[in-house]
Amino acid sequence: MPAVVLVGAQWGDEGKGKITDYLAEKADLVVRYQGGSNAGHTVKVGEEEFKLHLVPSGILYPGKICIIGNGVVVDPQVLVAELEGLERRGIDTSGLRLSYRAHVILPYHKRLDEVEEERRGAGRLGTTRRGIGPAYVDKAARMGIRVIDLLDPEEFREKLAFNLKEKNELFIKVYGCSPYSLEEILEEYLGYAERLRPLVADTGRLINQALREGKKVLFEGAQGTLLDLDQGTYPYVTSSYPVAGGACIGAGVGPKAIDAVIGVVKAYTTRVGEGPFPSEAKDNASEYLRRRGAEYGTTTGRPRRCGWLDTVILRHAVEVNGLTGIALTKLDVLTGLDVVRICTGYQYGGEVLYDFPASLKVLQKCEPIYEELPGWQEDITQAHTLEELPPACRAYIRRVEELVGVPIKLIAVGPRRDQTIAVTNIFGQEG
Ligand code: GDP
Ligand code: IMO
Ligand code: MG
Repeated sequence: MPAVVLVGAQWGDEGKGKITDYLAEKADLVVRYQGGSNAGHTVKVGEEEFKLHLVPSGILYPGKICIIGNGVVVDPQVLVAELEGLERRGIDTSGLRLSYRAHVILPYHKRLDEVEEERRGAGRLGTTRRGIGPAYVDKAARMGIRVIDLLDPEEFREKLAFNLKEKNELFIKVYGCSPYSLEEILEEYLGYAERLRPLVADTGRLINQALREGKKVLFEGAQGTLLDLDQGTYPYVTSSYPVAGGACIGAGVGPKAIDAVIGVVKAYTTRVGEGPFPSEAKDNASEYLRRRGAEYGTTTGRPRRCGWLDTVILRHAVEVNGLTGIALTKLDVLTGLDVVRICTGYQYGGEVLYDFPASLKVLQKCEPIYEELPGWQEDITQAHTLEELPPACRAYIRRVEELVGVPIKLIAVGPRRDQTIAVTNIFGQEG
């Protein structure tokens, strides 16, 4: 399996960082293909915890080639700080490469993200306010500034001056706030440019070359399928394409290069930010899951909304990503419940829906239909094989597999790298 795409199958925070780190041991390259510092990927090795926003979660293996692909929007301030933080902790970051073609987040993108959210009032999206949406807007409007421009002081000055004319007018006339100074941004960003220059490369070419040589490439999605601009709960989505197809666009490889697509599925569901969430728990199960699962945003610290596993959205994720396998995470969080619920369909008026509806109006009126399974009380955080899991837990896994229709290949029973059960080999991992 030389090229494997790992995608979030829900609304993000499924444990992609942990699974990427686990699979990265056997991969030659780890590639981020979309999103930006809205992502927060946690990796725990022993008792050490790392929170990554832009750097791929393969970075904890010394010298591993980790690529920030062309589809990512890069906040250079965050990237430089993240690199310094890792280096201070003794992590070798020499394998990091940044695409010439990636777009740059500028201070006005972050401010626009804030003022646009304020303007939406009660209809706010609950963004991470990292400037992601406005940066992708400029990219699509063909006025974005790319890493390659940042490295060329004249080009950068010219493009920035042109953009600031419009942005400053917008800030002054529409939002009533102060304008940005061209010279101040230039000074700050040209400093980042020098720091980042040695990492910059034609990353698409690096990846394609590696694939030709039969090397193993792991594509690390950020966010999740339900936050995808086209496939998610629009407009309560992010502005990029977290789905598997996004890996081709955001890394620069053809669709036939992809051999497997693994959906990371949390054993329950969480969502941070606004928007519909049919299986959100309204009773004390919500608090139980939040407390046991430590469900607070990695990037923003916001409490995550919690609920039961929803197989309607998972079947949607199977289809739109072409999932070939599932990594089921945070199974240990369900321990201690008398009953575990799985949403199998939605009650919509007199109808039962099994397919995920496109209409938010419909989705908001959907009531989850639950199947209840007996819970388990045994601690599973030390289990290394399926056989070590209690029968009720195994029955839950089997039922999820049946309802979703895709084999479960990995199971996480704790945040640490070693708390992972390999059911089947991906990248030649020991089963
Ligand atoms: P990501 O954005 O998909 O990488 O996920 P986050 O890192 O934002 O959130 C997942 C959280 O759950 C992190 O704090 C992880 O350390 C933690 N985690 C991952 N897998 C497991 C697991 O199997 N069990 C438990 N208890 N925690 C996990
Ligand atoms: P990882 O990679 C969970 C959510 C925000 C908001 C919406 C739009 O850690 O899974 P944005 O700032 O992207 O314009 O916000 O998307 N969101 C995430 N939720 N995990 C993430 O990343 C997210 N990145 C963005 O909360 O609802
Ligand atoms: Mg996260």
